[in-house]
Parts: sequence; C-alpha cells; structure tokens
Amino acid sequence: MKWTTDLYLKGLGVLELVENAQQVVEDWLHRKRGQHGGLAGKTAIVTGGNAGVGYATAEALLARGCSVVLAVRDRGRGDAAAARLAATAAGSGGSQQLGGRQRKGGSSGGQQAGGAAAQGSTAGGGPQQAEAAPEQPEAAQVAVEILDLAILSSVRAFAERWKASGRSLDLLVCNAGIMVPPERTITADGFELQFQSNYLGHFLLANLLVRQHQRQHAQHAQQPAQRASGAAGGSQGSGSGSSGPLRVLFLSSMTHIGGDLSDLTDVPYCRRPPWNTFAAYCNSKLCTLLAAKHMDRLLARAAPSGDGKRDAAVAVHPGLVNTALAAGYFKQMPPKLLRPLTDPFFTHVFCPYMLRSPEAAAETVLYAATAPADEVGGRYCGTAPRVTRHSAAADDPQVAQRLWDLSAHLCQLDADDLVS
Ligand SMILES: NC(=O)c1ccc[n+]([C@@H]2O[C@H](COP(=O)([O-])OP(=O)(O)OC[C@H]3O[C@@H](n4cnc5c(N)ncnc54)[C@H](OP(=O)(O)O)[C@@H]3O)[C@@H](O)[C@H]2O)c1
Repeated sequence: MKWTTDLYLKGLGVLELVENAQQVVEDWLHRKRGQHGGLAGKTAIVTGGNAGVGYATAEALLARGCSVVLAVRDRGRGDAAAARLAATAAGSGGSQQLGGRQRKGGSSGGQQAGGAAAQGSTAGGGPQQAEAAPEQPEAAQVAVEILDLAILSSVRAFAERWKASGRSLDLLVCNAGIMVPPERTITADGFELQFQSNYLGHFLLANLLVRQHQRQHAQHAQQPAQRASGAAGGSQGSGSGSSGPLRVLFLSSMTHIGGDLSDLTDVPYCRRPPWNTFAAYCNSKLCTLLAAKHMDRLLARAAPSGDGKRDAAVAVHPGLVNTALAAGYFKQMPPKLLRPLTDPFFTHVFCPYMLRSPEAAAETVLYAATAPADEVGGRYCGTAPRVTRHSAAADDPQVAQRLWDLSAHLCQLDADDLVS
C-alpha cells in the first residue's frame, strides 16, 4: 500500500471513529429494537452466525419470528451459539414473543437443511404437533450447518444440502469474515485467505443459492395449483414451496475505500511483494461491495417490472463494532512492546465505549434486510441506518463486471449456476 493511501486511510479512520462515536450515542439513545416488519415465518441463512455481528443478527431475526440457519465452520461453536440463541428466545417468552405469524396446526415447517441438527427449536414449535391443534404462531427455528468459506468444496456441499432439503430461502446474510491475519496464508484452493473467506466463498455461495432460488421460483410460477396448496401452509413459510423475493446481504466495510483492484489478476493471490495484510482486507471488502452492486444490477434486470417486490442484493457497513474481529484489529496497532499496557485499554475502555454493540449493528443489517428493494437494492447501507457513502471505485460497473467474470472463472462456476 502506498504511503499516501495509508495516510488517507488513517485520516478516514479518524473520521470514521468520530462518526462512529456519534452513532454509539444514537444507538444508546434509541435502544429499542426497530420495527423491521415482514420477517415472521421467513427463513434466513447467516454465515458466521456463531459470533459477533452474525450472532446478533441471528438473535434479532429469531426475535422477529424468522428461522435462522447458522452457517458456521466449527460445529462446536455453532452448537453452543444455537443453544444460547434458543435459550434467549425461550427466555423471552417462547414463540409468542418471537412474533411468529399465525398458522394452522400441524408441522412447524422447520425442516433442517440437509440433515443439520436442530439446535433448540424455540418453545412451542415442536414438529410433532397434533393435526387438530388450533391456530398458533409458527415458532422460529435455529439450526446449524457446516460451511467453511475458505474451502470452495465446503461451500458447494452446503449449497447442495440446501437444495436437497427443498427449503426456500428468503434472506442470505453473507456476514462471516476475518481481518488482518499476521501471515500471508494461501488456502487449499490457492487463494489469499482474506480474499477467499471474505469475498470469493460468499460470491460462490450467493450465486449457487440465488440460482437455486430462481429455479424454484420459476417452477413455482409454472405450478399454480401447487402454489395454491403451498399458500395454505404459508406463502412466506420456512418449508418448501414458498418462493417470495430473496434478499442477499453482503457485509462490506468502510475499509473498502483503501481497496485497489488496478491489478485484478494479483488480487486473489497477493503474490506481489510487499504483502500487506490490511491492504488484502481492504481489497476483499471492495470486491464484496462491487459484487453486491453488480448482483443487484443483474437481479433488477431479471425482475418483472412492477410492484418492486424483487430479489435484491444489498451491501452493508455495520459501523465499527465491538467484536473479536475489531478488537483484534485495534489491539495489533500499537508496537508489540506496548501491548501489555494497551490491550486492557482496548478491552475495557475503547471497544465497549467507542464501538457499536453487535446488537445495534444488527439493526443496520435488519434495515438492509427489510427495506423495500427499490430503496436499498444495490446500495450501501451504513450506520444510522441509512444509505452511506462509498468510494468511486465501488461504483465502476466495468470493474464489477471484470471481477464477476474472474470470480466465476476462479470458482469454476457453470454458466447455469451464475447469476447473469
Ligand atoms: N466489527 C467491525 O467493526 C466490522 C466493521 C466493518 C465490517 N465488518 C464485517 O462484519 C462481518 C462480521 O464481523 P464481526 O465483527 O462480527 O467478526 P467476528 O466477531 O470475528 O465474527 C466473524 C465470524 O465469521 C466466521 N468465519 C471466519 N472465517 C470463516 C470461514 N472461513 N468460514 C465460515 N465462517 C468463518 C467466524 O467463525 P469462528 O467463530 O469459527 O472464527 C465468526 O463466526 C465481517 O464480514 C466483517 O468484515 C465488521
């Protein structure tokens, strides 16, 4: 990274911290959860849902009656998170409190994706209810599925299991991420770790799932009778048969401004010395933002004109958030010798008081998930919640197209599995 870019980023970082501090105050003043309607009875996948912003997003979705699949790389951490989420949901009054929509008695519709273990269905949502049970709210479910974005075959396997489950998908939150690993690491697929974990894995996942959704939607449209009977079970339900619009969210970051894709052929590998771990993170986040915008352009083009209820892709900047990722980044800034002194400052003062809470950040994510497609499709939703600024580089459709084509090539994605 050039020293001028470095200086520019530091300046922006300070500005971001000031803005973020304002946001922290606003979050504190408006501590109540936002409305974010229309989530009840829907199904979401949250990558990296076991920690940080992903966990808080899963919690917020469940609280609004949306079933969540935590797509995680570690079964133990995923199971522990799901158990905590289920306990929180039950503690807040079970399914009645989750805002589940009314449904007829019978199956809860909470299938597990490809045989994933249910990790604590919320109270009152057991799958074995009597046929003659009176109307009651459908309980939101939380489940765990293995997904390692740093292994492309794991992404493909996840998508295959999702397809086999027959479940429909309403919301995909491409959230998982890593930031500034100390060493340049190359994945088994041959790509720089941050590029693959933050960007390429999500690119593959989103394309596979969006194309599955589009096929399901087309099938649905061809079978009006089946659709009618599906509607009795809930047109927005978590079972198979529902095919409402799909929303895809990509967690980007203000650091995308430091991204530089002028040598696109090197970006996936970071072969050119000197390797700069922060520059690689910035690039992964710029790629993510470009992909979100490009995917939305393609989805908007494919949508029948009309009511605005279309599939949409949205980029999100959650703000600077008090998570392991942010804490790890700030803690490695001072020289190593000083860290025994500075670490406690970051842990006890800076991160809890200067950064947003994951719960507040989840409100921004939910805004991006529920605002009308015409309002947020292809936009970059930031703190407040509002559409926020982004770099000119993120707005270049030609770079976006080149990146899209390159990514499809790197993932060896068949034309039929690529959103186009
Ligand atoms: N925190 C901030 O200030 C901030 C600011 C801007 C943008 N963001 C973005 O927000 C997103 C969430 O970050 P966070 O702050 O919540 O971080 P976090 O607390 O560190 O959580 C990251 C999550 O991603 C998962 N993950 C990492 N690599 C993975 C892989 N290869 N496959 C599957 N899951 C993987 C982690 O799983 P393990 O628990 O197994 O490690 C964890 O669940 C990231 O995309 C980040 O870039 C964060």
